[in-house]
Amino acid sequence: MAKPAPDRPLRPATLLVRGGLMRSNQDETSEALYLTSGFVYDSALQAEQTFTGAVQHYQYSRFGNPTIAALEARLAALEGAEACRSTATGMAAVSAALLSHLKTGDRMVASRALFGSCHWIVSTLLPRYGIQTEFVDGADLDQWATALKRPCQLVLLETPSNPMLELVDLRAVCDLAHAAGAIVVVDNVFATPLLQKPMQFGADVVVYSATKHFDGQGRVLGGAVLGAKKWIEEVLQPFTRNTGPALSPFNAWTILKGLETLHLRVPAMCRNAAAVAQMLEERAEVERVYYPYLASHPQFDLAKQQMSAGGTLVSFDIAGGKEAAFRFLDALRVIDISNNLGDSRSLITHPATTTHMRVAAEERARLGISDGTVRLSIGLEDVADLVEDLAAALDAAAGQPAPRRKPLARIVADEAAAPARKPRARAPKAPSAETAPAPRPAPAEPAAEEPDLFQQPAPARRRR
Ligand SMILES: Cc1ncc(COP(=O)(O)O)c(C=O)c1O
Repeated sequence: MAKPAPDRPLRPATLLVRGGLMRSNQDETSEALYLTSGFVYDSALQAEQTFTGAVQHYQYSRFGNPTIAALEARLAALEGAEACRSTATGMAAVSAALLSHLKTGDRMVASRALFGSCHWIVSTLLPRYGIQTEFVDGADLDQWATALKRPCQLVLLETPSNPMLELVDLRAVCDLAHAAGAIVVVDNVFATPLLQKPMQFGADVVVYSATKHFDGQGRVLGGAVLGAKKWIEEVLQPFTRNTGPALSPFNAWTILKGLETLHLRVPAMCRNAAAVAQMLEERAEVERVYYPYLASHPQFDLAKQQMSAGGTLVSFDIAGGKEAAFRFLDALRVIDISNNLGDSRSLITHPATTTHMRVAAEERARLGISDGTVRLSIGLEDVADLVEDLAAALDAAAGQPAPRRKPLARIVADEAAAPARKPRARAPKAPSAETAPAPRPAPAEPAAEEPDLFQQPAPARRRR
């Protein structure tokens, strides 16, 4: 029997473990995985009534599925959005949001600093269908104002952007876009709904790659589009039902499980990222560090206004261009080279030769992506191990030829296989359980150092 929902709003951490939970009549604890492509009907009449909409019944997993519906309800509750539809990938979410809304003859404006595939959709795909597109420098409000003097149907932006962590003033751009008749679609992948809620600043649609922090453990691909119920049901849904970028129920279930720890993982990753950004700023080999919560970030004040922490990604320019950047990447022994992000493992990539290699060199230069730029997605490892790994690799990149890269898994296996070394000195004997003094409680962390990662106002306490 489902318990009645509490009559007060729940906080994000609670929504992440309980939001969208729809127990079946088996009363399972965890979300059930409905790994089925379709559903059966009691009768031909029920099938007909399902298709006419007279009866509520699942039809086919391309249209809807209970596990997928649980994920969509959880994401909508977390975002504070009226509705959500999930997709197979983040790119399916972005393309569905754009293609469902736009038609031949429409005009859209986008910030130039977009993920490579989003950039391709705007610069190459949409013009093929007679949709005019215009790029602006996302950080320059004058360029937005000029571009949005003319009628426009859609604005697309990413803040912070991939990979240069450039911000867009959400409130100002939403106001300009609405005055021009456009809806605003925000790719909020880098911030996650815990650090930034674009709808609170006026955005109409928010898109995510669930592949990133939502799963957060490198297992599955997924995406999500969130917005007003009317837009989702009347504009997006006919497009997704008929073109078919559906999420697998298995992936939806995996992402549901990932979400349960999002509020623990993201703050821990942000703390690690902030420490790494500070350490990198002190290194002579690093020309420039990009991290929204560093005082040196040109939009530091804006970051503080619209984000509740600096995020889990740090980008930086290494002196010495591509050669030095490659030497540095190859010398890392803990951090993996991978173009994914938002994972519990720290991952590093060289955007100019991977994620942004298909963006023309001239455009890359305008975006500030140089041959020495690297993007680091910070994970959950002990920050001291990350700092040591980065420092040693920077040393290697600075001069000496890099040691041959050896994956951590190999190092661990090799060490396990190596003959046991003699201990240098005898470690003091550990006290037995009986003689050991009672452990002292760990000193509480100063509250000021804990970023307030949840922007939703705390719900009012119920009066007794
Ligand atoms: C900002 C941003 N948007 C969208 C995507 C696309 O997501 P997916 O790889 O799940 O299609 C990515 C992927 O890296 C991204 O970084």
